[in-house]
Amino acid sequence: MRDLILAANWKMQVTPAEARDYAADFLTRVRPRLGRELWFFPPAVSLESTVRSFLDRADVRVGAQDVYWEAKGPFTGALSVPLVAATGAAGALVGHSERRHVFGETEPETARKVQALLAGGLVPLLCVGELLADREAGRTESVVLRQLDAALTGLIPAQVARVLLAYEPVWAIGTGKVATPADAAQVHRILRARMTALGAPARCRILYGGSVNPDNASGLVAEPEVDGLLVGGASLTPEGWAAVVTAADAA
Ligand code: PGA
Repeated sequence: MRDLILAANWKMQVTPAEARDYAADFLTRVRPRLGRELWFFPPAVSLESTVRSFLDRADVRVGAQDVYWEAKGPFTGALSVPLVAATGAAGALVGHSERRHVFGETEPETARKVQALLAGGLVPLLCVGELLADREAGRTESVVLRQLDAALTGLIPAQVARVLLAYEPVWAIGTGKVATPADAAQVHRILRARMTALGAPARCRILYGGSVNPDNASGLVAEPEVDGLLVGGASLTPEGWAAVVTAADAA
């Protein structure tokens, strides 16, 4: 059986009460499994309720969808690492394509967020991925490596080793177009080589994300290069997410 990280990104949905109901249902469907870690990324307002709902499950961790790098102060609307940590969350997404392409997050900003999370003892789940135009122009590798290098600027090897990575091709997110397992594995191989060159162990974890569903999950994690999944749409119901987890477990 593979060691896997299976992560649910709820984006801008799931209220605190809905998170409680979701967890109660999901927990009856999915038992802990050795070597498999589950993450949930609820909207900020539902972090605490999600943490509480999974308190009895050591295999479940909860993270924020974004953070700001300053610890406190006059930054209206922003969420600091200490505020996230105070909810009991264990990490945060950084550089999700919607932060980059809808909200204009820059590569230097992703780096500051990664640094702030590491300094605060939380796990960054850094997302990288190319636009369709990049892929069609043969720039996939150069784009994801540029994003990775930018996000890890200034980190020492021991810090790089604490970063989780997700490869999420932008053209596959929420579109129903999934990368083939072979295409995902190819990009993961390149990312892993760079991660190890920067100090991460060879078995550093690299997740795939983008239109994952119960039908394609097992084919993706069957690739030894794919250490887990980051899932949006298919994680929004407990039965849907349980179906993805079950399919990945079976790979
Ligand atoms: P999707 O989203 O599974 O709905 O494509 C993935 C993500 O944005 O993390």
